Amino acid sequence: MQKQENNKQEKIVSMFDDIAPTYDTANRVMSMGVDRSWRRKACDLAYEFYAKDSIDTIVDVACGTGDMMDYWRSRADLSGITIGEIVGVDPSVGMLDIARQKFPKFNYHISKATEIPIKDENVDILSITYGIRNVVAREAALEEFNRVLKKNGLVVILEFMKNENPSFLGKIRDFYMHKILPKVGGFISKNLEAYEYLPNSIGDFATVEGMKKELEDAGFEILYAKSFSMDISTLLIAQKK
Ligand SMILES: C[S@@+](CC[C@H](N)C(=O)[O-])C[C@H]1O[C@@H](n2cnc3c(N)ncnc32)[C@H](O)[C@@H]1O
Repeated sequence: MQKQENNKQEKIVSMFDDIAPTYDTANRVMSMGVDRSWRRKACDLAYEFYAKDSIDTIVDVACGTGDMMDYWRSRADLSGITIGEIVGVDPSVGMLDIARQKFPKFNYHISKATEIPIKDENVDILSITYGIRNVVAREAALEEFNRVLKKNGLVVILEFMKNENPSFLGKIRDFYMHKILPKVGGFISKNLEAYEYLPNSIGDFATVEGMKKELEDAGFEILYAKSFSMDISTLLIAQKK
């Protein structure tokens, strides 16, 4: 089982290595820019919940090409919040190479969500945006998030969650995700398999209620859970007890 999980995880990471050069372009076309408002909302709400003018450390796990880290920076600047350090963590060397080129001022670790090379209780806010779905050992990752976070620290998750009873609009979303999006992403990246993985991984993933329960079991209290834009994307914010 462990070996099977490791193989699956390695395959996912190597897929991200392959699509890294075209990831940003494909993302921009496929999301039509809607993800920008979700990312801004995630940062603004987290800063509001955390209610501190000075934050030591924000860690973005599965940081990919680094955009979320830049949202943390720019939204903090707008609110007059100072941040000591923003750290990106991702096991894909290809994705991190691009993040480093785009945002050289942030710090980076080539690591999985289950092995964050940071000491216990050092992190104020930990985000994972469109990344948790790719983490095979999710329970271990949530425990790792709890370990590195300070008491009352926040975990911020943006993700495409599984919807078991889709509304009419939800069915349109599923059609877009299953039939259109893989073709667009596949065309841009020349890697159809990678973009067919996306809708399939949503089908295999947790529902919002399931994810809330997993977070609670890992020692977090849910502060916020809401789905946006025809329930395409869900934002969850939880606090370490
Ligand atoms: C869809 S991308 C999201 C990138 C970025 N967070 C964003 O919002 O655009 C998913 C990322 O998850 C990373 N990933 C895959 N498996 C992971 C794991 N076990 N731990 C941490 N990151 C992982 C991939 O390398 C990839 O960069």
